[in-house]
Amino acid sequence: MFNLFSLQPAFGLDISDLSLKLIQLQKFKNEIKLYASNEMSVPAGYIVSGVIKNPEGVIELIQKTIKTSLGNKILTSNVVVSLPETKTFIKLIEISQVENKKLKKVIKEEISRHIPLTNEEIYFDWQIIKKITKNNEKKIQILVGAAPKNIVDSYTDILKKAGLTPQVFEIEACAIVNNLIQEKNDIPRIILDLGASRSSLIIYNNRTIQFSISISLSGEKITQKIAEKLEITLAQAEKAKKICGFDEKKCEGIIKEILEEYFFELLEEIKRILIFYKTYFSFHGTFKEMILCGGGSNLIELDVCLSKQLGLEVKREIPWIFKSQCFNHKKATWKSLISDFFFWPLFSKKIKSCPFSEDKFASFATALGLALRGIMEAEEQ
Ligand SMILES: Nc1ncnc2c1ncn2[C@@H]1O[C@H](COP(=O)(O)OP(=O)(O)OP(=O)(O)O)[C@@H](O)[C@H]1O
Ligand SMILES: [Mg+2]
Repeated sequence: MFNLFSLQPAFGLDISDLSLKLIQLQKFKNEIKLYASNEMSVPAGYIVSGVIKNPEGVIELIQKTIKTSLGNKILTSNVVVSLPETKTFIKLIEISQVENKKLKKVIKEEISRHIPLTNEEIYFDWQIIKKITKNNEKKIQILVGAAPKNIVDSYTDILKKAGLTPQVFEIEACAIVNNLIQEKNDIPRIILDLGASRSSLIIYNNRTIQFSISISLSGEKITQKIAEKLEITLAQAEKAKKICGFDEKKCEGIIKEILEEYFFELLEEIKRILIFYKTYFSFHGTFKEMILCGGGSNLIELDVCLSKQLGLEVKREIPWIFKSQCFNHKKATWKSLISDFFFWPLFSKKIKSCPFSEDKFASFATALGLALRGIMEAEEQ
């Protein structure tokens, strides 16, 4: 791969167990636009829980994803890549104020209290969030991210062999937050990413990620359960899941019944995580908002069911960079329909410039965040 047009920002590549997703963004004047995108399925067994088991196969798929990109050709080798969520660690920690030269050592000690790996086995990075005074003691809040060296090294190796130059390895929660939240206010938020092979929950408060945690639910697990219970093929089960979701009027409510078992497990897990956050992070506020992303968030009426049970607003978000280009026409009211009618030329122009549907925005949440980081890196140079 060559860097003929190094003016092109790095593209984002979301490497998951079951899919590769590519996004490249470009800045035109003051607006960020989608420049290229692609998605490729990864055959089962190539990547297992984030560990690359078939390097040659993954390299070939990466090259194919780049070569067949939709929209425009990718003419840069620079890439921003996500690290597997289940293998990484991100948390806001609080340490007593120390001299700068001692900071690294203190952070190292703190990390070793959270992950079952030695300091020699991980790469880590940190960002000072703010200095605070607690019980008359001066403290520093630091967002710490860590990833196992063997994972990062194996990803570096395959990316280089695919002709790429990894510019940044991003923790998935950071990519998702970059994509979904343009901070203007201090609303505490829960972000639930429901993927094919894994899911995770991110707690966001005080304008920073507090932590992210894996959740046992996955889209694949649900499809398998539907196939098992109804004695149908996986392809049929996948179709039934997407068509019926939680809608009790569809599929005679059978799919809803199967989904409910997982739904209540998910609810319990979310409630446990919130109690953990309140207890160990001394959080005294309340969450009013949950943002859903990942392909699994497209499950029909999942937002309604979660909202009812958790007592908060649950929604999918259009990435902040696309808000001016896309109308959020989810809730059509008489008023909005009338105003859309009168402002049709403006409305249709907006729809045309919106690059993705809401469903696609949800499943490309990580890739979009990575590509946005690519733009930020290019601006810093
Ligand atoms: N309309 C829908 N209803 C229900 N589930 C859906 C719908 N659309 C997609 N999904 C599910 O979303 C999952 C794919 O989501 P996503 O693309 O976020 O996963 P991924 O990034 O490939 O995997 P992961 O993040 O777990 O490694 C699949 O399990 C698919 O069945
Ligand atoms: Mg994913």
